[in-house]
Amino acid sequence: MRRKLIAGNWKMHGSVAHNEVLLRSLRQADPVEDVDMVVLVPAPYLGQVRDGLQGSHYAWGGQDISDELQGAFTGEVAASMLRDFDCHYVIVGHSERRQRHGETDQLVARKAQQALEAGLTPIVCLGETLAQREAGETHAVVRRQFGAIIEALGPQGMAFVVLAYEPIWAIGTGRSATAQQAQEVHQGLRRQMAEQSPEVAAELRLLYGGSVKASNAVELMSMPDIDGALVGGASLVAEEFLAIAQAASVK
Ligand code: PGA
Repeated sequence: MRRKLIAGNWKMHGSVAHNEVLLRSLRQADPVEDVDMVVLVPAPYLGQVRDGLQGSHYAWGGQDISDELQGAFTGEVAASMLRDFDCHYVIVGHSERRQRHGETDQLVARKAQQALEAGLTPIVCLGETLAQREAGETHAVVRRQFGAIIEALGPQGMAFVVLAYEPIWAIGTGRSATAQQAQEVHQGLRRQMAEQSPEVAAELRLLYGGSVKASNAVELMSMPDIDGALVGGASLVAEEFLAIAQAASVK
């Protein structure tokens, strides 16, 4: 059975003082049965997060990496640098990067490849805009985005990837997709994977992201093809984040 994963994306939030309090609260909470938990933090805080969470039940990681191994790429962070801070995960292809930084499907696929080669689990994000949903293009858009990843990594590589469906209209808006809307897309993505490998499809962890909160998590997490959540805003509040993890716990 697929184990649930609850990932907190801090985005560009935090300070040493604020993180200190949040990390302490997370650490004090008991592990949640059958749920993996991870925080994805701004690169400058990786040392602090490692020190704060080492030896706990949490994993941690970054929010982006370069598609290059190393070299003259000012401002970029290499996958190997995240490994130096004992990261296990990294987000690639978040819509905020696709939209604000012009990241293409191909670039996102190369980043996922760099992550895998460095021994990191990429959490690959995809999702449609509101205009695309209203035009009935959701399925085609996510199929194209996912197809580029499968093509680059091959079905075998996909065994080491986590996928996150994040409809752009639901991110940071307070307006989550309904559990049915999310389930429908997740099922489509799993079927797309099954065209290449039914075994990998059966094991593929598919997260939902976009305004996940404690109040809507139970319903979302009860869907058969939703294996966890990528949580933005609510991951900055320890009680909310922990309540979402509780909602994902198999009862
Ligand atoms: P949100 O962000 O939970 O604040 O909507 C989710 C994300 O962008 O990963």
